[in-house]
Amino acid sequence: MAPIDYSTPLMQKAKEIAQEFEFDTKQVNAAVEEYQNMMRKGLENGGEAMTMIPTYVTAVPNGTEKGVYLALDLGGTNFRVCSVTLHGNSKFTLNQAKSAIPRELMTGTAQGLFSFLASKVGDFVREHHSEHFEEDNEHHLRLGFTFSFPVDQKGINRGYLIRWTKGFDIKDAIGQDVCRLLQIEIDKLGLPVVVAALVNDTVGTLMARSYTSPGKARTLIGAIFGTGTNGAYVERLANIKKMTATTEAQEAYGHYDSSSGEMVVNTEWGSFDNDLRVLPDTPYDRALDANTFNPGIQMFEKRVSGMFLGEILRNALVVLKDSNAGLFAHEGVVINENPNLYRPWTIDTSFLSLVEADQSVGFSTSRELMETELSVSGACEEDVEAVRIIARAIGRRSARLSAIPLAAICIKTVLAEERARAATPVSEKFSTLTLGGDQQHDVDERPFGTVVYDAIHAVIARVKARVAARAAPLVDEVEDREGKMIDIGVDGSV
Ligand code: GLC
Repeated sequence: MAPIDYSTPLMQKAKEIAQEFEFDTKQVNAAVEEYQNMMRKGLENGGEAMTMIPTYVTAVPNGTEKGVYLALDLGGTNFRVCSVTLHGNSKFTLNQAKSAIPRELMTGTAQGLFSFLASKVGDFVREHHSEHFEEDNEHHLRLGFTFSFPVDQKGINRGYLIRWTKGFDIKDAIGQDVCRLLQIEIDKLGLPVVVAALVNDTVGTLMARSYTSPGKARTLIGAIFGTGTNGAYVERLANIKKMTATTEAQEAYGHYDSSSGEMVVNTEWGSFDNDLRVLPDTPYDRALDANTFNPGIQMFEKRVSGMFLGEILRNALVVLKDSNAGLFAHEGVVINENPNLYRPWTIDTSFLSLVEADQSVGFSTSRELMETELSVSGACEEDVEAVRIIARAIGRRSARLSAIPLAAICIKTVLAEERARAATPVSEKFSTLTLGGDQQHDVDERPFGTVVYDAIHAVIARVKARVAARAAPLVDEVEDREGKMIDIGVDGSV
């Protein structure tokens, strides 16, 4: 194939647009600092800062837990009912049924959604656990409800919906206890099931990783980079001031077992910096935000996660096309009537990764994809290259942004404690970070923080590549020279 001429107006314009997605190390560092402030404020009082939800989970598993439990997972594109048998040796077996959530239920009524969920639980229990129908209340199956939206949690199985995210918009559910909504519908069907715990998906990820990898240093973060993005970590109870500082606060949050002195906190980092003090903002981000149910909210998530990257790219391609720089303009290109290119929310995020990674001769893979994803046939190599330049810039920005909360939480929980405790300076203790075996960052002579950020960028870039390739859920580990692990449980499902 002929070499691409990068001096054409099309290439120049594509590079100009790509440039708008630059987010450099200095900006990452400033954002990490801001993130740490927001975490602190969120723990003190919530308010305009991050939600930082106390989860009532005061201990994480250690692999010895046993029993059969039901799990119901609602939070993104798919919905799952599972039963998990924990064998007590860090091993488990899983039965699961997965279905897509009908779109109309995402914007209908609370009863519509929760009766649908209960009916799916009923189907599953009848198929896999019918013996429980014979049992008395005492022996009902205990269900963990993974509900991946922000709730004002007031007990392990009590949480009032604060707001919807990720395209859900069921107005009459706001302010209601989602466990109760589910239990009511379960009871109507006479199912032998008790909603015993409410967890965010990030909390579930943190706990699952803790169950399967005991013995190493503890799992530090449960992180989701899927339809949305969010993370949970273990915080000292004394630091969760909004819950512990005054007697009134303690009363408002009610009872929990505080003997561990810790609690998992669901950060809801998707709403980090809704005011855009440190986050980047482009016309493509603004166009996307204006076209959501929740403008001005989840501004971090809208720049990072799977639900949004395709739409950011589409907005950028519309500007590129309309600039008359020559996108999809050569002879033989056919743009269908009412093409996806001009229809919001039509481009899947996997399109970015597939185009980015395309090594086929003459970009034949990308050109075919452009037919199905953009409704453009006969695109040439230069068109593909222009799209690639922008897709890569959006992906890189997303990866760099992803590093912000990870770095801030690592620094807060691990490094701050080490620094306080360590007889040896931190830079000696953690002088080399190894990422999954194939990357090394020598930190001697360099400010420690920078290297953590670099390292985490690399972790996230790798996570994203694998998520995009729809590889199995994965876990990455950051390890220091002494073999001490900093674990980051990452659920990579999309
Ligand atoms: C959104 C939700 C959050 C969830 C995340 C990942 O950010 O608000 O609760 O954890 O998506 O699914």
